[in-house]
Amino acid sequence: MKVAVFAGDGIGPEVTREAVRVLEALDLPGLVLLEGDVGGVAYKRHGHPLPPETLEVARACDAILFGAVGDFDCDHLERHLRPEQAILGLRKELGLFANLRPATVFKGLEDLTSLRPEVARAIDLLIVRELNGDVYFGEKGIRTLPDGRRQGWDMMSYAEDEVARIAHVGFKAAQGRKGRLCSVDKANVLETSQLWRDVMIEVAREYPDVELSHMYVDNAAMQLVKNPGQFDVIVTGNLFGDILSDQASMCVGSIGLLASASMAVGTKGLYEPIHGSAPDIAGQGKANPMATILSAAMLLRHSFGLEAQAARIEAAVAQALADGIKGGDLGGSQGTAEIGDAVLARL
Ligand code: NAD
Ligand code: IPM
Ligand code: MN
Repeated sequence: MKVAVFAGDGIGPEVTREAVRVLEALDLPGLVLLEGDVGGVAYKRHGHPLPPETLEVARACDAILFGAVGDFDCDHLERHLRPEQAILGLRKELGLFANLRPATVFKGLEDLTSLRPEVARAIDLLIVRELNGDVYFGEKGIRTLPDGRRQGWDMMSYAEDEVARIAHVGFKAAQGRKGRLCSVDKANVLETSQLWRDVMIEVAREYPDVELSHMYVDNAAMQLVKNPGQFDVIVTGNLFGDILSDQASMCVGSIGLLASASMAVGTKGLYEPIHGSAPDIAGQGKANPMATILSAAMLLRHSFGLEAQAARIEAAVAQALADGIKGGDLGGSQGTAEIGDAVLARL
């Protein structure tokens, strides 16, 4: 069980440390942790946000626990040298095309979300976000038009096989849950989305037991705060999924709570909180490590089939929250290490 640990920038190392403590506390036979530099820290040490030696470690491991990357000092660099290229590069190089971002309300937090408690209480959804395509990975640039104006451009596209493979992930996820799949697109405006919708409908024929619906992304953003309880599984493209998952995090209380799994074909996966490096609170011991701890639980479940151990971690986090353990993100006063201690104690 080889696990790469890439802590990255900002709060990345702070939250990853707590997740590693949790993994180590389980005393799993055969667990080996291998570290590597990613992001701004890797750029500063090796001249590249995803150095070859890090990519090699990633390839050699069964799973990757990832903190966060992003460093405003690096925002002036050419795009291929920016910290974010570490996570984008790993997703692409390892074929991690299926990003699972579950959002459920924890007991005791119903009053602490950005929604009214009776609205928040019903949330139990999974966002299945495509992670290898879309406008993220198309050609892009800033060019000068003949009349001298600068123009920024990014090419959005999806090929039918890219849509079909994420559709299958969405349908299968729905089969294991309440049997409802909502595909989110912008087919009223974008050709990319029209093809997305057509392929979703074609793939649906293989899943007669799943109820497929379609929603435009603007409406989905609205429905997510109006009545999030209506959603079971949402399947969507890379850009829309990025935005809707941050929004979903506040529907359940904090971005510091949302974990994710990014899967390739098979069991290889990268596991990370959905949040970033949070430069505004980095180095202060204030970050909530729960999203990363919950990502470690997803790692055990999806890469190693250790369902019982994953559930143990999730139960420990839920218990800590139910007992009133909260960081500043939820209006509490506990720091990163204290939250880690609280989860470990309940484990
Ligand atoms: P962010 O997610 O880092 O932070 C947004 C807000 O949420 C901030 O106020 C931050 O303090 C708060 N927050 C985030 N995580 C928290 C936690 N665990 N506990 C408490 N509060 C938390 O998003 P941003 O500010 O837009 O981006 C900062 C940097 O992170 C950028 O460089 C961005 O590109 C990068 N980023 C990286 C990833 C990743 O590594 N996967 C994801 C998102 C953003
Ligand atoms: C995320 C992040 C990344 C994304 C960035 C850092 C490239 O926002 O994982 O949600 O946009 O996918
Ligand atoms: Mn994001």
